[in-house]
Amino acid sequence: MNEFAAVILAAGKGTRMKSELPKVLHEIAGQPLVEYAVDAAAGAGASRICLVVGHGAEQVRAAMGEAHLYAVQEQQLGTGHALQTALSAFSQLPPALLVLCGDTPLLTAETLNTLTNQFFAEEADCTVMSAVLPDGGNYGRILRDASEQVCGIIEARDASPAQKAIREINSGVYCFRTEPLLEVIGELRPNNDQGELYLTDVLSSLRQRGRKLTAFVCPDANEILGVNDRAQLAELSALMRQRINHRWMLAGVTMIDPATVYIDAKVELGSDIILEPQVYLHGNTRIGSGCKVGPGVKIVDSQVGEQCILGPFTYLRPGTVLADKVKAGHFVEIKKSRIGKGSKIPHLSYIGDAIIGEGVNIGCGTITCNYDGVHKHTTVIEDQAFIGSNTNLVPPVSVGKRATVAAGSTITEDVPEDSLGIARGRQRNVEGWTLSRDPRFAKKEEK
Ligand code: UD1
Ligand code: MG
Repeated sequence: MNEFAAVILAAGKGTRMKSELPKVLHEIAGQPLVEYAVDAAAGAGASRICLVVGHGAEQVRAAMGEAHLYAVQEQQLGTGHALQTALSAFSQLPPALLVLCGDTPLLTAETLNTLTNQFFAEEADCTVMSAVLPDGGNYGRILRDASEQVCGIIEARDASPAQKAIREINSGVYCFRTEPLLEVIGELRPNNDQGELYLTDVLSSLRQRGRKLTAFVCPDANEILGVNDRAQLAELSALMRQRINHRWMLAGVTMIDPATVYIDAKVELGSDIILEPQVYLHGNTRIGSGCKVGPGVKIVDSQVGEQCILGPFTYLRPGTVLADKVKAGHFVEIKKSRIGKGSKIPHLSYIGDAIIGEGVNIGCGTITCNYDGVHKHTTVIEDQAFIGSNTNLVPPVSVGKRATVAAGSTITEDVPEDSLGIARGRQRNVEGWTLSRDPRFAKKEEK
């Protein structure tokens, strides 16, 4: 069995982010950068994942949870030092290691899988993932000998002009066989422009010992792009969004204007869903098949059943669960509520902390007054009830099955099933009232 563990380098400060938040906790598509690396490594089959943390170590650890191994690199003395730190965190070292960085969110599990497969198939001691770019920029350059075999990596800042012209660059992702790695990693010396221990120097050391180095050229150079500043954060967000939207469109979701649809990484969608422009689907949200999501809809951590109709401008806040065939229409906000099958909340309502049964009709402008300034209270509306327009429901309160609430009521007491609840001032008409107070109309009468 080809077992390997993953080491994710994530201790760097990310100075160029100009942020209090550690770089790897900045999010794209609703997920921290480092979580993409963890997901990709896990998806590629890593038996364990070790995160090298330093800057904001506790924050990163709190965000990523205790399922992983953490190696704390107190001082960031370079990528080689980071891997040394990781090696000492394993109680039992795996036979092989996949090393990647915490700030390259576009790297997929499939690509890592191809890399590790090639590494094991070639029986290499190290396989580096490279990419060919029009301009190598600040990346390390892959050095090859006369017979095109990989023989080392030179950092851009330490490279000669001839080396700088090399377009095959180091992605910062590697597979190592642990045993030969251990022989050389202690030999790293900081004799370079930055005075750091460079992981890249391990390659020439391995080569000098006659070890086998190979490269896997990443077919899509976009995958290796890293985030170093907020402009790159925005660029990679856009690329990730395109990727997510493309995946859902191929899975049967229609997007009228995918450029304006924002779907977080972990959202789940059924098929035959129509998403109109300016739709935002966040966090742990799931939408069933056959739903129509109108323009300007925002959904956060909510579950939507099948064949629901939402929008325009519906806001579903965390903890909302809509059963099948629910309608939540124009300017409707729902928070932490369950809405039963076929119920309709077509316009201008706020529903919070409510349990609504099946076949309920909520009239325009209904408000659940769920918060008394100190506590939240629950409103219960049972099956087939009808709530008239412009109703305030002051909980704790319940409306029974098939009951009706008259429009304009402020309901503070339970309405029994099959009853009418009416709670509003009686109408009184004063005849001739307008004439008595408006001289213009009075004059007209004189003519
Ligand atoms: C590194 C590679 C370079 C490659 C590039 C790809 C080295 C010396 N150079 O350069 O060849 O082209 O990545 O993006 O490795 N980190 C730590 N501890 C440290 C230093 C870094 O955990 O002491 C982490 C950083 O948080 C980051 C990763 O290692 O996630 C890479 O470090 P970075 O400083 O960005 O290396 P580059 O200069 O980009
Ligand atoms: Mg970098």
